[in-house]
Amino acid sequence: MRKKIVAGNWKMNLSLAEGKTLIEDVVSRLPLLAEHQQVIFCPPFIHLGNMASILDDGADQRVSLGAQNCHPHPSGAYTGEISIPMLKEVGVNYVIVGHSERRQYFNESNEFLKLKVDALIASDVQVIFCCGESLDIREANTQNEFVAKQLQESLFHLTPDQLKNNVIIAYEPIWAIGTGVTASTEQAQEMHAYIRNLLSSQYSNDVAQSISILYGGSCNPTNAVELFSCEDVDGGLIGGAALKAETFLPIIFAMD
Ligand code: 13P
Repeated sequence: MRKKIVAGNWKMNLSLAEGKTLIEDVVSRLPLLAEHQQVIFCPPFIHLGNMASILDDGADQRVSLGAQNCHPHPSGAYTGEISIPMLKEVGVNYVIVGHSERRQYFNESNEFLKLKVDALIASDVQVIFCCGESLDIREANTQNEFVAKQLQESLFHLTPDQLKNNVIIAYEPIWAIGTGVTASTEQAQEMHAYIRNLLSSQYSNDVAQSISILYGGSCNPTNAVELFSCEDVDGGLIGGAALKAETFLPIIFAMD
């Protein structure tokens, strides 16, 4: 059975005190998660160490810590960057790679993201690889080709085992991020099925069926159940609604 995952991407939000309160609140009210279910908190870098100690207290493997970014090199003269060994040292098990905000504001290319993917896999850290098209691309109806290129150039050099064991894909249409406009269940399912077919033709049906594909973009307690019930949607990468226990918990409850 594929893993069902709800990950909260806090982006550049919440103070240390607010973050602690949120994690404590969510963890204390979490249902007993099944073997195939995973909850991931992705706070800003500076909060990771503190959040790790809160999660350690719970010691539940099904609740994990993720980072929002990393640098591909293990150390060196990269002012302002954070390496994968540093992230591992504080207890990070997952890293978001290629979020559209990093692609857009920090000019991260498919080629550069490939380096991060390789470095994470070499360090045995799970990759949450983001893909997704802008509104222009959706309106031109070329979203499939666009997403295929993102995956081709950053992921499809991996071996089947690397992909299966270390990669989660998150489809996040840019036009749905932070806009309140969610992809319809048909649009989400269509793209997720397209991605899964791509994995099947590039690798195998076995690989395609094992990889979790998350949806992200204005996911909220009202639409999560319907989105997560789509055959190829295996959970969500949540932005705004992950910042409050009142909205994040119902999304976790929507995981089947
Ligand atoms: P919103 O849920 O705020 O639309 O953000 C989605 C996202 O970018 C998660 O990475």
